Amino acid sequence: MWRFPPAVALLRRSLASSALLPAPRCLMAALLLEERPITHVSSAMTVRYLQRCCAADGDGDEAIEAFNRDCSTTSGNGASDDPACTAYLEKLCRSGNLAGAVRILRHLRDEQIHVDLHTYNMLLQQTAEANNFTLCAKVFRCLLLSKIAPDLTSYMNVAKALQKLDNCELILNFVREILEITHDRDSTVMNRLIFATAKYGHVDKSLTIFEELKKEQSSLDVVTFNTILNGLGKAGRVDQMLHEVKLMEELGHSPDIVTYNTIINCLRRLGRLDLCKRFTGEMLEKGITPDLRTYTALVDSFGRAGLITDALEMFEKMKQSHQPSVYVYRALISDLKKAGQFELAEKFSEEMNSSASDLLRPEDFKQKNKGRRFRKNG
Ligand SMILES: *[C@@H]1O[C@H](CO)[C@@H](O)[C@H](O)[C@H]1NC(C)=O
Ligand SMILES: *[C@@H]1O[C@H](CO)[C@@H](O)[C@H](O)[C@H]1NC(C)=O
Repeated sequence: MWRFPPAVALLRRSLASSALLPAPRCLMAALLLEERPITHVSSAMTVRYLQRCCAADGDGDEAIEAFNRDCSTTSGNGASDDPACTAYLEKLCRSGNLAGAVRILRHLRDEQIHVDLHTYNMLLQQTAEANNFTLCAKVFRCLLLSKIAPDLTSYMNVAKALQKLDNCELILNFVREILEITHDRDSTVMNRLIFATAKYGHVDKSLTIFEELKKEQSSLDVVTFNTILNGLGKAGRVDQMLHEVKLMEELGHSPDIVTYNTIINCLRRLGRLDLCKRFTGEMLEKGITPDLRTYTALVDSFGRAGLITDALEMFEKMKQSHQPSVYVYRALISDLKKAGQFELAEKFSEEMNSSASDLLRPEDFKQKNKGRRFRKNG
């Protein structure tokens, strides 16, 4: 006859037994863990992880004892479930006891008591705002070891904590720990961390992570490179970007359509039209066609720079795979007029008019029509 949900009963039991056992805490935690099947992480790894956690933790018992006491009193009426744990964690945060909250979070996870993503994110945010990267990293590791997938908010909070951190060694340790936890998954976690870090404008932090990933090449994929290339391009670091493109190919990751669109759009914004031409050529040679947005931007960039031949050549290539939009026609016509090419401008104006009913118009870019139109043309 359980009065409480099984998980809570289990927590009670193990807390009660831990009070009696003289064994060192980390050994005990490992033993407790061995008793139960671990489905989502290898137990050897979990034990290693726990040993490290325990070694770093000197003052966790008090928090857990208090939690046990408080939850025992409030749960005399059977209220010790997830919301109660969450409320308890929130209360600790409000009182500024972040370390205690994180200790209890880890304890709940070890006991396989479910904590929801919102609570994880709340703790990530609080620890990041308190500038305590060590605590923030602990919460994130717990989250990764749970069965819940982090969302963008989680990554942005970790990035926020990383942003204020100057200690390179701490970042590298963090990366290595995350790699250890995620070694049997794909690169999504690392890619999103790099993305979130770069999003804050800290491309150097992204690079620190990236350089560490390079040491273990299985943790890199095309998305990792695309994310880094985007960060470098936006920061205007062209040489470094080109270097990574070269490396990417050397390591056997073929640039995909996202890679090329990313590179070309960054180079275009930086006015490096020479390089735009080179990469567009390379892309087309490989049988990958720029997307409509990239093509449109290229035609207009060449046009505005007065490189009319290049603009026209790009426009013709574009027509082979895409139906030009009214936008690109208007841009091209206006660029031609500015360059004094009135006859050509007139010719394209007619062409635009004669195919007017087929062209993508501003209203076609609205969500409602988008899919239908693009499918029809794809
Ligand atoms: C982070 O919190 C822990 C636990 O309270 C504390 O020992 C550590 O000094 C804090 N670190 C920073 C950078 O404030
Ligand atoms: C294209 O159509 C617009 C509006 O219908 C018209 O004003 C313009 O003269 C036309 N241009 C050509 C070249 O036919």
